[in-house]
Amino acid sequence: MAKKRYFCNMNASFSSLLGQWYGAHGRDLPWRRTRDPWLIMLSEVILQQTQVSQGTDYYLRFARRFPTPQLLAEADEEEVMRLWQGLGYYSRARHLHAAAKLIAAAGRFPADYGFVRALPGIGDYTAAAIMSLAFGQPYAVLDGNVQRVLARHFGITEPVDAGEGRKLIRALADEMLDRQHPALYNQAIMDFGALQCKPSAPLCTSCPLGETCFALHHHLVDTLPRKAKRIAVRDRYLTYIYVRTRDGQTLLRRRGSGDIWQGLFEFPLIETAKPLHIDEAEKAVRADFRLSVPALHLVAKDVRHQLTHQRLHADFYSLTLPSAVETLPGRWVPESDLGNYALPRLLEKLLALLPPAEG
Ligand code: ADE
Repeated sequence: MAKKRYFCNMNASFSSLLGQWYGAHGRDLPWRRTRDPWLIMLSEVILQQTQVSQGTDYYLRFARRFPTPQLLAEADEEEVMRLWQGLGYYSRARHLHAAAKLIAAAGRFPADYGFVRALPGIGDYTAAAIMSLAFGQPYAVLDGNVQRVLARHFGITEPVDAGEGRKLIRALADEMLDRQHPALYNQAIMDFGALQCKPSAPLCTSCPLGETCFALHHHLVDTLPRKAKRIAVRDRYLTYIYVRTRDGQTLLRRRGSGDIWQGLFEFPLIETAKPLHIDEAEKAVRADFRLSVPALHLVAKDVRHQLTHQRLHADFYSLTLPSAVETLPGRWVPESDLGNYALPRLLEKLLALLPPAEG
């Protein structure tokens, strides 16, 4: 195959140019100052969720609170969720917790790809990152950044997320890996993708790999990498009721399993297939609470929140009761304690819109 010939004997100059670029432009990030597999795993799991700029603070907080897998294994889930709060995709936090228990039970972090890859929440990418960055083993990482660099540079015109294209890019990633310096190479190619070969407006004019870049020479920089799948996004309509009592308590409920935000806390919710009118919201609250309740006050309408496959539309109402009604399902908590509960980010946004309680 023509493409195969094109790659031959490229890896030495490709990886050495990447290494030089990394020496000059690579970022000094806190998890790059350690070879502790646990800390590297923490950083990689967090960075699957967010960009380096936001992830760094989360990493530092987790690393300070849980410097060993044993400490996380012993923590309770509510605390883990609270620290994770804001990162989204909470099943990742639960998987991390479960993985910590398995590593703690193993006694020490095994330098074994099979063990690491089998941990909950650890896929090909994270396993390769841990094995190479912590143990110096020759596993090539393949994340979105690496896909983009390779697809552009070597002209992978097939979709990289399906069929032939996926196989080709995997084989190319393995072939290009500098097997003598897998940690350095993996960090270099990821940073190169993040900083130089960016998704939009890549810095081609100052690119040290420009001379041999297929996409640059064929005017395909904006086209590659190609993707086969378009993600279907569904709309959900959520009406949240913030119930407050005159003595400053509010009602929280904990989300169950099988949907977004498992185990997090939220305000009483009515979910419907279409947006609710205020009269319908009041009717639904009366039915849910089995009480005649005072009028709802609108706080905000159609606050949007995007998840990977869902677009959430939230209406937010408040309702003041004279005192806590213990028969209502949920947990009454002082409003001043809300900071101790892990709430989804959307609810944090809604809370910020809430006016202060009436005198
Ligand atoms: N994104 C994911 N892992 C990373 C790492 N180790 N360094 C920089 N960015 C990353």
